[in-house]
Amino acid sequence: DTGFTCIDGKKEAKSIRDEIKIQVSRMAASKNIVPGLAVILVGDKEDSASYVRNKKKACESVGIKSVDVCLPEDSSEEDVLKYVLSFNKDPSIHGILVQLPLPSHLNEANILNKIIKEKDVDGFHPENMGLLVMRGREPYFVPCTPKGCIELLHRYNVEIKGKRAVVIGRSNIVGLPVAHLLLNEDATVTIIHSKTKNPEEITREADIIIAAAGQPNMVRGSWIKPGAVVIDVGINHIEDPNAPRGHRLVGDVCYEEACKVASAITPVPGGVGPMTIAMLLSNTLSSAKKFIT
Ligand code: GUN
Repeated sequence: DTGFTCIDGKKEAKSIRDEIKIQVSRMAASKNIVPGLAVILVGDKEDSASYVRNKKKACESVGIKSVDVCLPEDSSEEDVLKYVLSFNKDPSIHGILVQLPLPSHLNEANILNKIIKEKDVDGFHPENMGLLVMRGREPYFVPCTPKGCIELLHRYNVEIKGKRAVVIGRSNIVGLPVAHLLLNEDATVTIIHSKTKNPEEITREADIIIAAAGQPNMVRGSWIKPGAVVIDVGINHIEDPNAPRGHRLVGDVCYEEACKVASAITPVPGGVGPMTIAMLLSNTLSSAKKFIT
């Protein structure tokens, strides 16, 4: 079969949200508990603000309470930590998320270290990252975008065990954790990055490619083995005078070329993006469940 599948992340995310909504309402009815998510945004980067709006909207759609704090660009570490520490103690909050990247004068590590691991629904606390990497251990939470990528592979019955997976990018948010999730699923995993020589020779060996480099249209059709499955995590704004606002969204993969070679691929938008938010809701719900004694 040489059929091609466009992996519909928007549809899968909707079905996950529908399931979460049912569970949230059951929890409200039987335990009188509403899961709560706190979102901290520092500064006024337009795309960060838009991610935060989408997260809030998704919370509303399933009945999760969201509390958002928007702090000015010139906030100090103490200003941010004051909110983190107060949410750590607040029993109505089950998940705390600090939107990244932070303004450059703030030390990201110092702030993420202070979120208690039981509320670290982004999974970025070093203890959760450590537990994710170790064999036989379980983090409290798995980072949302990596979890969304794996969930899509599962939902489309893509075999991972024994397959060659190539991850493009090594960020703390996506590349590094998704490589470890694939390893945990018994893939043979290679990570390539900006210093890798001849990356296309490595991606051509891959049964599964996860592109998370932040480089528009970097992965060409010729980089892909016929029949491979491609997950495109990129969200890049490129200028396009013909587009409605003078720019449009593209992934890290050249979709028009890739869809002629790959057996399945996620589109941008409508692929991984909506799954990231669905996984955040799922992590917040599971946190609230764990807080029930
Ligand atoms: N910036 C880009 N992706 C993410 C994410 O998943 N969580 C947070 N907090 N910031 C991000």
